[in-house]
Amino acid sequence: MNLKKMVGYKAAEFVRDGMTVGLGTGSTAYYMVEAIGKRVKEEGLSIVGVTTSHRTTDQANELGIPLKDLNEVESIDITIDGADEISDDFQGIKGGGAAHLFEKMVANQSKEVIWIVDDSKMVTKLGKFPLPVEVVRFGCQQVYNLFDREKLNPSFRLDDKGDRLVTDSGNYIIDLHLEVIENPHELAKMLDSVTGVVEHGLFLDCVTKVIVGREDGPEVIDVKRN
Ligand code: A5P
Repeated sequence: MNLKKMVGYKAAEFVRDGMTVGLGTGSTAYYMVEAIGKRVKEEGLSIVGVTTSHRTTDQANELGIPLKDLNEVESIDITIDGADEISDDFQGIKGGGAAHLFEKMVANQSKEVIWIVDDSKMVTKLGKFPLPVEVVRFGCQQVYNLFDREKLNPSFRLDDKGDRLVTDSGNYIIDLHLEVIENPHELAKMLDSVTGVVEHGLFLDCVTKVIVGREDGPEVIDVKRN
């Protein structure tokens, strides 16, 4: 069973007529965009999408989903996106597809944020998945050295050709190989304070609903926050 497709299609059911919808990036979000595209075509669903990467923009355009830029909308009703890891207290790591900067900007404007994952992404603590940090190219070696001194096990992400991967915003990604993140808020604060860091992949206190793909069907979890 294709669990990514299962949760992508399930999430598309939460989209209603008239909504402004944040469209995430990645191999799971791909199916959600496909499902919304079908609803637009077959049911005449009327929505406006706000995409989080050039890849998703291309897909949405091909499917005829009307789009607006993040600058053009007042707010976003719902954003649906994948995730790389979700901890048992519903904090997340994103950016495995290098799109976390736009993804976080879109999520931050969204009334509801739904993450769609197969059950392999559900973990006790974050950190096994390398934490992506987007950095400006200027002086990035200094940022890398700082992470190295802090024992954050950095590596520059490479593309298929073995060159440094360049994001949609023209930046590099440094992945931090941490194994376990004991205090995500503390780490986020530290990373936010480093000049040259554009955005990191810790998405904290952000998600409102998680849809987990399991062999026996999708599980929908409403996330309660204090
Ligand atoms: C893109 O940068 C990411 O945040 C993705 O949403 C995340 O990596 C999940 O991707 P997959 O659905 O492809 O695993």
